[in-house]
Amino acid sequence: MEYIEKIKSLFESDSASKMSKLDLRNKYLGRKGLVSEAFKEIKNIPVDQKKQFGDELNVLKNNLEKVLLQSESSEPNGTKSDLIYPINLNSLNQSSGHLSAVTQTIIKTQEILAKIGFSTIIGPEKEDETHNFDLLNIPKNHPARDVWDTIWVTDKNSDKKLLRTHTSPVQIRYLENHKPPIRIIAPGKVYRYEATDATHETCFHQIEGLVIDNQTSIATFKGVMEYLFANLFGREMQIRLRPSYFPFTEPSFEIDILFKDKWLEIAGAGMVHRQVLKNVGIEDKSYQGFAFGIGVERLVMLISGLDDIRYIHSGDLRFLYQLGKKS
Ligand code: FA5
Repeated sequence: MEYIEKIKSLFESDSASKMSKLDLRNKYLGRKGLVSEAFKEIKNIPVDQKKQFGDELNVLKNNLEKVLLQSESSEPNGTKSDLIYPINLNSLNQSSGHLSAVTQTIIKTQEILAKIGFSTIIGPEKEDETHNFDLLNIPKNHPARDVWDTIWVTDKNSDKKLLRTHTSPVQIRYLENHKPPIRIIAPGKVYRYEATDATHETCFHQIEGLVIDNQTSIATFKGVMEYLFANLFGREMQIRLRPSYFPFTEPSFEIDILFKDKWLEIAGAGMVHRQVLKNVGIEDKSYQGFAFGIGVERLVMLISGLDDIRYIHSGDLRFLYQLGKKS
């Protein structure tokens, strides 16, 4: 199949060059042309792939025939032409797909942070209360739970479950099985039962970060954020840490980025609360660290200058195509 793809792309570049139509026909559809040669290859293809290969080759042959006929009819004597062919058959000029802007942003973040020692891990989207709340120092009936409007799901095999409201439970899952020093990020989807508006979605992505060692400070944390955003945006970005409250960090911050004269909240963060470390059995006081949870769609908005988050998951392919190319 790779062979067929090669012929297609070769044809696309040849037809955009100044090659004459006659030469093109000979090169592709002539008796010794690439398509005829490809048909001869059928005997070497594994039995279970012969049919698919043959079918695809026939489609290619018919498409090439149509394109050539069309362009030859606009140039009756078939001589060398300066005109570029109007290749208008979908099968030949289909644009290749690309990763969504959100995925591209996650991958870029992974690559940038990998350079300074962060590994990527993932955790489940269906969570239990223990990891999403309790071990993060958010006990039942604590008013802080209301901050994360939860979508509950019923699970036949266990107590009630929920769709994680943030990626912070992945910190706990990792800490349960690993000893410091720790330097990880955990990207993924999160869900909140809340009304959408220009900056809020019900399902969006976060990138969690966690560093635990015996030399980390708020200055290290700010340095990591500045390094990340400078590399993501391709220039130095002004950020500010705004005092905030999360039960699992102390002190806690919101990170805002200055963009077009406006501060946009991009992440929640802070120094990991001693109680959280205790909850996972890290009693040694020489260890401390920081954690952050970045809103990926908010990053995409900044990178692409978008003013409404709802476009990102709108499913409008024309829009998504542009957004993906910009990211
Ligand atoms: C949290 O979710 C914390 N877990 C973040 C954290 C991690 C704090 C580790 C401390 C340590 P918050 O609810 O503020 O915090 O969400 C974090 C980021 O997600 C926000 O800054 C914003 O960029 C993004 N975000 C929050 N809610 C939405 C939403 N409804 N739609 C899109 N993005 C959102």
